Amino acid sequence: MSTADEVPAFARDVVAGVLISAAEIQNKVAEIGAEIAKDYDGLDPIIVSVLKGSAPLIADLLRVIPIPVTIDFIAISSYGPETRTTGVVRLLKDLDVSIEGRHVLVMEDIIDTGLTLNYILRTLRARQPASLAVGTLFNKPVRRLVDIPLKYRGFDLPDRFVVGYGLDYQEKYRNLPFLCVLKPEITGA
Ligand code: IMP
Repeated sequence: MSTADEVPAFARDVVAGVLISAAEIQNKVAEIGAEIAKDYDGLDPIIVSVLKGSAPLIADLLRVIPIPVTIDFIAISSYGPETRTTGVVRLLKDLDVSIEGRHVLVMEDIIDTGLTLNYILRTLRARQPASLAVGTLFNKPVRRLVDIPLKYRGFDLPDRFVVGYGLDYQEKYRNLPFLCVLKPEITGA
């Protein structure tokens, strides 16, 4: 374990353990970036990041994609209990650019049931992009309710609520550089 994986004091009482280290995440992001650069060379893709969880990922990923890319952001809010999604989604911020006829790659932080992303993909598909693909850094396959083909997939996770590297619990812990699980008494899981 490197110093990047030491749990900072503010989170020490709530973190049960580190699941994926900061270095493992950075290595994986570099691998995904290299694949994206190879697959989209000459296509001038638009990479769509879903706020807020994907913010660290897009920031790190961009810097390891050595081809021209456009980035854009959407923000949504999903209603439901604190650690579960319902698929009822509200668009808080739309894309700034038109995606018609463009190659679009949605890069997610985590896909759980897939309901949120399913909604986003339906919305984007209606705008007639030349192609629409999805990548995710973290994936919870056992919880999937809708099938979502993944062009890029970082880590498959067990059915545990995780935080760090953009993922939050009640808007906290996004700033941890590693992925970790919280103590059950914190999330009530
Ligand atoms: P889905 O619609 O069930 O796929 O949920 C997707 C969204 O739920 C993600 O973009 C996250 O915001 C949130 N989410 C799902 N699982 C976790 C988790 O383990 N930790 C933090 N947020 C999560």
